[in-house]
Formats: sequence, C-alpha cells, structure tokens
Amino acid sequence: MSVMAEQAFASKLRERREQVKLDQAGLAERLGVPVAELADWEQGRHVGDLSLAQLMKLAEVLGTSLEHLAPDVEDDLDAGVLIQRPEDRSVLKGVRGGVDYYVYHCLVRTRQVPSLVPLVVDVLVDDPAEAKFNDGHAGNEFIYVLSGEIHMKWGDPARPHEAVLPTGSSLYLQPYVRHAFTAARGSGPARLLAVNF
Ligand SMILES: [Fe+2]
Repeated sequence: MSVMAEQAFASKLRERREQVKLDQAGLAERLGVPVAELADWEQGRHVGDLSLAQLMKLAEVLGTSLEHLAPDVEDDLDAGVLIQRPEDRSVLKGVRGGVDYYVYHCLVRTRQVPSLVPLVVDVLVDDPAEAKFNDGHAGNEFIYVLSGEIHMKWGDPARPHEAVLPTGSSLYLQPYVRHAFTAARGSGPARLLAVNF
C-alpha cells in the first residue's frame, strides 16, 4: 500500500473500531495480536506487513468489508490487467514420497480471483508404476500437455482410470477427483499447463 493508502486504512480502522464500541485491547484480543501491533496499524505503521488473511479477519471482526477498510488492497491490477514476467515467477519443488516428482512454475495470480491458480508443471518421473496420487483438491482444473507424453491416472488409486496423452492434449478435471501424472514410460520428462479455477 502507498503511504496515503496506509493513512486512509489507519483512520478507517480506528473509526470503525470506535463505531462498533471496541477499545484497542478488545479488538486486539479478538484478532489474537498484541495491542501494540494494533496501535501501530491505527497509526499507519507496519500496515504493509498485514497479510490478506489478517485483513480479512479484521474486516470480519469489525463487521465490515475489505473493500471498505482498504479499497486498494484488492486492486492489484493496472487498468484491469496484471502481468507477470518470467523472472518474477516462483518455482516450487513438488516432492512426493521423497522423490522429486513435479516442478511447479507459478504463473500470474490476482487477488481479484483467488481461485485462479495457473501453473506450468514439469512432470519428472516417466514410469507410470511410480504414479503418486494426490487426495484431489477444491476447484476445477484444466490441463494442456505442452510437451512430451503424459500418462494420467485418476479415481481410485487401487483401480485407477488411465489415459496416455500426447502433446497438445487437453482435459478437464472435476474438483476432488484424485489424480496423478507421470510421463509415459521411458519417454523422459513432460510438461503441462495446469489452470485451477
Ligand atoms: Fe491437480
């Protein structure tokens, strides 16, 4: 947040707290933070350290909305657009059962649409017998095979459905369907675009 936005947030926070008849100690207790920290926020100090989760909790405890408390927190767009450049991409290792299994390249995400999680996934293991199922997850998933050949398993790990997907294949996956990807046997690593939404 800019300094101006921090000051605006600070005064809205103080105003709203007084409106709902809480003193600093009472609000700090409900938030589970030290009073000194809350006092700082009300002075516009360290406001940038607040996580989105903390801001949401604050809005909830005060019976108001995030947009009211911090209108520009939600707006991470530039005239409706958010760009992520390759050098700003975070890369996470997906280790399954002690094996380097996936590498996740995290693509652009916006607070406007928290459920949208696009990833490029390197699928490192090329033996379907080594498939490691997840437990399924919330949200819909769209997959596109960018390179290589994918062996997909889904459903009950004991009796899975299976499919071999060449480059250029795409698929949709319902929430909470268990699934596992490897590259096709002996084909070397493969790469997916996965968009959770
Ligand atoms: Fe998934």
